[in-house]
Amino acid sequence: MPSDALVIFGATGDLARKRLFPALHRLAERAALDIPIIGVARRPWQDEELRAYARAAVTSRLGEPDPAVLDRLAGLLHYVSGDYADEATFERLRDRLARAERPIFYLAIPPSMFDTVVSGLMRVGLHERGRVVVEKPFGRDLRTAQRLNRCLHRAFDEHEIFRIDHYLGKETVQNLLVFRFANALLEPVWNRRYVSSVQITMTETFGVEGRGSFYEEVGAVRDVVQNHLLQVMALLAMEPPVGADAEALRDEKVKVFRATRSLDPRRLVRGQFAGYRSEEGVADDSDVETYAALRLEVDSWRWSGVPFYLRTGKQLARTATEALIEFREPPKLLFAGESTPPPHPNHLRLRLGGGNEGIELELEAKVPGESMETRAVPLAFSYHDELGPQPDAYERLLHDAVQGKQALFARQDGVEECWRIIEPALANPDPVVPYDPGTWGPPAADDLLEAGHTWHAPLVAE
Ligand code: BG6
Repeated sequence: MPSDALVIFGATGDLARKRLFPALHRLAERAALDIPIIGVARRPWQDEELRAYARAAVTSRLGEPDPAVLDRLAGLLHYVSGDYADEATFERLRDRLARAERPIFYLAIPPSMFDTVVSGLMRVGLHERGRVVVEKPFGRDLRTAQRLNRCLHRAFDEHEIFRIDHYLGKETVQNLLVFRFANALLEPVWNRRYVSSVQITMTETFGVEGRGSFYEEVGAVRDVVQNHLLQVMALLAMEPPVGADAEALRDEKVKVFRATRSLDPRRLVRGQFAGYRSEEGVADDSDVETYAALRLEVDSWRWSGVPFYLRTGKQLARTATEALIEFREPPKLLFAGESTPPPHPNHLRLRLGGGNEGIELELEAKVPGESMETRAVPLAFSYHDELGPQPDAYERLLHDAVQGKQALFARQDGVEECWRIIEPALANPDPVVPYDPGTWGPPAADDLLEAGHTWHAPLVAE
């Protein structure tokens, strides 16, 4: 049964302002949302003040939203003010939810407060008919992730918990499944016999954008590798699911994680951009990484021996997210002379984010002239040109959570496996290596590559 009320704890916070209200507006725009939305926070506001806040949040994010849609969204919004440690806050919320049979509670608050809020919901019995949405990072290591899960499981069953990793809501990421399993020509080559490496790159030209104190607690590996990049890896490496349901899909992803060896600390390079230590909230001697490059191995029949290179960083040369499948080299061209350079291995680029989302297959073609020299040429597809604009990830995920659909959310066993993979390299890592803003990060990352491999810069929009 779909939820019939959405409650946002932390309704006056950053996440609600930047992501949730704009996403709710988009849902209201296509008439996909018609349930009361109750914001909860400490500020002593009334409904009207939350409505004004939401209007401002949407306008600053989306430019000039349609006033009629804004009115429709504002009409759904209500506010409950109070401290999360105070039982009266939850009593007021319970009264507001008197008619809701299946409310959903969005915890847009720091994880340190989850326990207090879950206890508050339990004291007034609201958990019994509710669902809950939480945001990554889910813990900061395996132990804290398990503790967090225990806290949520006190009140909710696993199928009532929606763990948001917004990468799973991106159309381009969902398309990985369709691309792989709706195109019969890919399957025969999608394995260790034909693929020599898989590279997943997520780079950003900006820094920590005023989130220094948050970032100090997290770093690049916890912020995006443990979740976003491993989820993309699982979608690239998994076997076809045995059914269309959420569990069948998540089972296959968990199998990939289970087949992935724990990260050898020698296969992780951590970098820090020059200037990070001067950011507000950052320690003068901070050893937190703003860049990470790593090499993983998925020990399955399909992938054994194929390196999975993952790379991410802030203040790098471009903003882009891309997966690149490098195929094995063809045998030498029999009809080419000694002096003709050998053909390049084929590449498949899956451009998942950065403004020019699309897919490009680089094949070899003959360079005009008398020799048999070849050059890589693209067969390319652009999402925007072929399929039009893509819905925002949060819009999709909020909608699915309200509908009670679990497929695009992380499951507990998967989250724990991801920590198991990453954790050994976080215990006593080598110190961060400095790099200059605007570059591709520390050259030491090259040492992770097998002979004959290089890091491939993602393509960006013209
Ligand atoms: C978030 C990270 O999860 O993802 C940020 O906390 C990062 O540090 C962001 O910038 C990137 O998301 P996107 O969708 O812009 O690639």
